[in-house]
Amino acid sequence: MDAPRPVVNFGPGPAKLPRSVLLEIQKELLDYKGVGISVLEMSHRAVPDNYKVIFVQGGGSGQFSAVPLNLIGLKAGRCADYVVTGAWSAKAAEEAKKFGTVNIVHPKLGSYTKIADPSTWTLSPEALMCITAPTRLCMAWSLTLSPTSRERVLVCDMSSNFLSRPVDVSKFGVIFAGAQKNVGSAGVTVVIIRDDLLGFALRECPSVLEYKVQAGNNSLYNTPPCFSIYVMGLVLEWIKNNGGAAAMEKLSSIKSRMIYDIIDNSEGFYVCPVEPQNRSKMNIPFRIGNAKGDDALEKRFLDKSLELNMISLKGHRSVGGIRASLYNAVTIEDAQELAAFMKKFLEMHQLSQSSDLHKVQLMFLETHERVALRSERKGEEKETSTGCLLHTPYWELSLQPVTLWCMGRHSTN
Ligand SMILES: Cc1ncc(COP(=O)(O)O)c(C=O)c1O
Repeated sequence: MDAPRPVVNFGPGPAKLPRSVLLEIQKELLDYKGVGISVLEMSHRAVPDNYKVIFVQGGGSGQFSAVPLNLIGLKAGRCADYVVTGAWSAKAAEEAKKFGTVNIVHPKLGSYTKIADPSTWTLSPEALMCITAPTRLCMAWSLTLSPTSRERVLVCDMSSNFLSRPVDVSKFGVIFAGAQKNVGSAGVTVVIIRDDLLGFALRECPSVLEYKVQAGNNSLYNTPPCFSIYVMGLVLEWIKNNGGAAAMEKLSSIKSRMIYDIIDNSEGFYVCPVEPQNRSKMNIPFRIGNAKGDDALEKRFLDKSLELNMISLKGHRSVGGIRASLYNAVTIEDAQELAAFMKKFLEMHQLSQSSDLHKVQLMFLETHERVALRSERKGEEKETSTGCLLHTPYWELSLQPVTLWCMGRHSTN
């Protein structure tokens, strides 16, 4: 059954899933491939074992513990270098302190709007591994490391960009990613680990977190998250059928460019705090009105986006503002819809600023098919609506009719 109204999910995870995958799940929920039982009831022993990766529970956060527990003992000094580029890698570094010494390789950053230049980093000669978030940075940095060395192991948290671009896995000791952003639903985390790194876990490492135990049991050491693995299988197939990671990369470049262009051409109305060279194609945070964000404008933007069936655009609670997540399943059309809305929102704002009314606010009533004008003059507040705009989504209106209409109402008031 189709949703009563199409909703575009720009959420940071659990993120949008491809519609074709959801339909497949719906079909197989009651009868998995003609077996006669639901996919939810399938024994995990039926999950194919032709994977060189392990599937575990505990999310990306579980790996913040598993990585040091499995690797920090490789060197007697139990020391690890960490590159902290955001809130998640800060958490990862904090967690690793429980198991050894953590060296943050760059000066402390107050906010995460830029990444300290790698030439300024101080790696510890005693440290075994480095963990960092942006894959782009990891890839560049891996060139200076000996990728097959056990002296330095490069670990990358790809939770937010896994399979959104091709990656040379051989450059990494460990890659991990929660599935709920680019490759499926919450509940399963994929870990790719180089063989020669298995078997060095600290004695206190819980078996369920130990890579050697999970790899030795084909991820079946304990009951795996079968349904999440099944969904991930469908999404991986969908990615393959749609051109693979290279195609996902092209699409994410197009989608993110669309939004960044609106931001950069808005003359400061939309402000992305992240420096251009460090911007993400997956998550686009921005403020509205000024660099700190105008609360009223941002609230109006979010309210309006909800009316237009665009959900989860609210920024992370720790930073506020707006954040658009453009993971693999978000289509070009979805991004176009957001870009068109942002453009119109800006134009409406400019219009309200340039009007000769004392104060004009364009208000959008419960449905976006009606546009009303609220004019406030001499403390008096009046709300009006017009029949001529009925059934016309406001973003399809050219500016001129809106202006004329505003002026028409003004002259009759
Ligand atoms: C880069 C990154 N690492 C780790 C996590 C935490 O993942 P989880 O919620 O699966 O523990 C997130 C979640 O958003 C993330 O974006």
